Amino acid sequence: MTAPIRENLSGLDLRAEIDRLRKERNAVILAHYYQKPEIQDLADFVGDSLELSRKAAETDADVIAFCGVKFMAETAKILSPEKIVVLPDMDAGCSLEDSCPPEQFKRFREAHPDHIALTYINCSTEVKALSDIIVTSSSAETIISQIPPEQKIIFGPDRHLGGYMNRKFGRDMLLWPGVCIVHEAFSETELLKLKAQYPDAPVAAHPECPPHIVDHSDYVGSTSGILQFAKSFDGDTLIVATEPHIIHQMQLAMPDKNFIGAPGADGNCSCNICPYMALNTMEKLYLALRDLTPRIEMDEELRLGAKRSLDRMLEMASGTVGKGDLGRPA
Ligand code: 13P
Ligand code: SF4
Repeated sequence: MTAPIRENLSGLDLRAEIDRLRKERNAVILAHYYQKPEIQDLADFVGDSLELSRKAAETDADVIAFCGVKFMAETAKILSPEKIVVLPDMDAGCSLEDSCPPEQFKRFREAHPDHIALTYINCSTEVKALSDIIVTSSSAETIISQIPPEQKIIFGPDRHLGGYMNRKFGRDMLLWPGVCIVHEAFSETELLKLKAQYPDAPVAAHPECPPHIVDHSDYVGSTSGILQFAKSFDGDTLIVATEPHIIHQMQLAMPDKNFIGAPGADGNCSCNICPYMALNTMEKLYLALRDLTPRIEMDEELRLGAKRSLDRMLEMASGTVGKGDLGRPA
């Protein structure tokens, strides 16, 4: 359970305090596109999972304040072990990570000894250490295209990203049955109603969406890929089938265009807001920089095991400039 904040911080200018602590601590603030706008606006860098991993690996700051979810902050620690990595709320998890307990994943691997394990970065450090190569949504295509077609692959934990890749490359990777609760909540019926209302508006979707959403999309890609699509599409309205906080960056870049979040089941719910990402707040970021806690710590042997599969991704994705371009649906 997330611990309540027991101090009264109401008299503080949080933005100014965060700026002061950032300098004092020689800290860098990294934020994912699904963070609240006020956090995106003060971050030193906002990006997708691949870009954030790269930033974490190359920064010379002493402290990384990671405004995202736990697997992302853990990735930063794996790649930059000498740095202090803080996550404003340690309960900021991920349903994909939860779907894939390391013990079960280990047994699944053992049952398929002739398969390599290609694993989506949305997983625990333990599962990374049990994997051969990590992928993100922006590096998956580049990496899969380098693996010989005859090589058998286990893909986990996101069955929708894995299924999309299977369809796109004509492969039959064995899929772990995990899903993202946020992308799973988009409604096909409501999306079709919205498309009828805006017949000229393209749909841009994240590959964590199920096929009944991806199949109605004009563009499928990572958060950074969707953002690039938003900056370049012809027309004035775009329907966005991913977590709606990314629309903040679209509005900043293209204030005259209209960005509409794809609807959930009742057409008007907030079920597409990631409840884990939403746990990070300005107050918790301030406290994390002030107290240097909650801090990511991990066993060194485990870290080295996970680093091996992450390094493999960074090498194989070296030509991928966080573009996340998975193109049109297969
Ligand atoms: P990206 O790598 O596309 O930013 O995806 C991260 C994520 O958790 C999407 O739900
Ligand atoms: Fe995990 Fe889904 Fe939230 Fe991304 S949006 S962090 S996949 S629960």
